[in-house]
Amino acid sequence: MKDVRKKAKELMSGYCRVCAVCDGRACAGEVPGMGGLGTGSAFKANVEDLSRLRLNMRLLHDVTEPELAVSLPALALDLALPVLAAPIGGVSFNMGGKMGEEDYVRAVLGGCAAKGTLGCTGDGVPDFIHQAGFTAIAGLSGRGIPFIKPWEDAELFEKLDKALATGAGVVGMDVDAAGLVTLRKMGRPVSPKPPKKLKEIIGRTPAKFILKGIMTPDEARLAADVGAAGIVVSNHGGRVLDHTPGTAAVLAGVAAAVKGRIAVLVDGGVRTGVDVLKMLALGADAVMIGRPFSIAAIGGAAEGVEKYLDQLRGELSAAMILTGTARAAAVPAGVLA
Ligand SMILES: Cc1cc2nc3c(=O)[nH]c(=O)nc-3n(C[C@H](O)[C@H](O)[C@H](O)COP(=O)(O)O)c2cc1C
Repeated sequence: MKDVRKKAKELMSGYCRVCAVCDGRACAGEVPGMGGLGTGSAFKANVEDLSRLRLNMRLLHDVTEPELAVSLPALALDLALPVLAAPIGGVSFNMGGKMGEEDYVRAVLGGCAAKGTLGCTGDGVPDFIHQAGFTAIAGLSGRGIPFIKPWEDAELFEKLDKALATGAGVVGMDVDAAGLVTLRKMGRPVSPKPPKKLKEIIGRTPAKFILKGIMTPDEARLAADVGAAGIVVSNHGGRVLDHTPGTAAVLAGVAAAVKGRIAVLVDGGVRTGVDVLKMLALGADAVMIGRPFSIAAIGGAAEGVEKYLDQLRGELSAAMILTGTARAAAVPAGVLA
């Protein structure tokens, strides 16, 4: 990973500093770029709220080979570890464009598939962002989750149909992208979606549907009520609204509202296997990671992504042993001090 990060630092120069800890400080306000919006406080809160949590160490038990695989029945997914690569689009204007969008997406999706999990793809302007994602997912026989922005009707349904044509069994919408300044600047209409509209959209989609950008228990319940099979507790990596709480601060309440009804995913500030364990203890079924996968893919292509997943697997396994956690599918809240 040291070499991968070194290479990424060169290739992402001017866009991402590849800091020792990816915490949103150095890149505050850099949107487009890899930062958080405005003061960067929502990005920073993701990392801070997670790092504030402490683990209870437990050694008087027989857990030596913890089970990292998880099943997400609501999404009909089985994952070798509870980590997915979050959707990230726009390599040219966010990361410097030293790698093409197609190569980037292929690296993320291919690396994840090789390690028994899934990568997601993003959407935006220009159109080659979602096109690259759809092509890569189709090339992997549907092993990926395409995320679409909350466009107005015609564009939304057209893109949804194309997403379904990739063979993906799960599709998603990042509803929080209604706040993306980059799209607003380009004059492309995205908007919040009322429950009635969402019910219509999800109802006509013959795939499992994930709503990404849920931050409160009431909206989690609404998501389940309108037919979503899963949510991602997410503030879009702090890129859509300054001064939101970190996701780790709201996760327990949101998860409790819908636990067992739909799949609960979360992202924001997850960097290590220890962070993954903390999110699972707060009630997530699995986590998504964003920026570190971008660094791994730019610096090392699919192999970099695989290396990063190996690192996460080792860290998560060690943390589970040291906290007496036998199964990633059933992490008790008492893991947290
Ligand atoms: C450069 C960049 C581009 C992104 N593009 C998308 C996108 O197209 N669709 C989406 O749902 N989320 C997008 N996101 C948000 C990520 O999916 C994810 O929510 C966030 O990065 C998680 O935080 P982390 O990077 O701290 O792990 C983007 C994030 C970044 C940094």
